[in-house]
Amino acid sequence: MRPTLLVVHHSHGWRTTRMAEAIISAAVGTEAVSVIARRAADATLDDLSAADGYLFGTPETFGSLSGMLKDFFERTYYPAQGLLLGRPFGIFVCAGNDGSGAVAAIQRIARGYCWREVQAPLVIPSSAVELRLAECEELGTTMALGLAMGVF
Ligand SMILES: Cc1cc2nc3c(=O)[nH]c(=O)nc-3n(C[C@H](O)[C@H](O)[C@H](O)COP(=O)(O)O)c2cc1C
Repeated sequence: MRPTLLVVHHSHGWRTTRMAEAIISAAVGTEAVSVIARRAADATLDDLSAADGYLFGTPETFGSLSGMLKDFFERTYYPAQGLLLGRPFGIFVCAGNDGSGAVAAIQRIARGYCWREVQAPLVIPSSAVELRLAECEELGTTMALGLAMGVF
């Protein structure tokens, strides 16, 4: 059976969604994984439980992750305790600046779930999303093939 990749993201505008679409399309295109794609507002503990690995995407807001993605983590954190230990994850961020605040905040939260970050965070400036979709596709492909080959 194919492993499952969960992609959860929030976007206030369109940019992080554009990144997510490229990631999802590439992951699906590998035919190596099943993909669950969720807006952060709709994502649940069941989605986390059903997946073998995760990609989380957000715009940077006020130097951190978006409120909606934070809400997802807040809703699932306690129910997930002890259930999802060691699962691999990656981060993608769209930001006006360097995105480091959003990345650090997600990494800190993920330590609480005891997840393992298996890809370097992908941060793309707001002005460059359309120019750098290949990097999103690479992240989706790498995560999918890594899960399927048991590398992670
Ligand atoms: C309320 C708000 C706060 C923001 N704060 C930051 C910030 O702290 N650092 C930053 O680099 N960009 C910040 N931005 C800019 C967004 O990260 C940037 O516009 C991003 O491309 C939006 O992506 P989206 O189209 O997916 O919503 C902020 C945007 C909004 C709306």
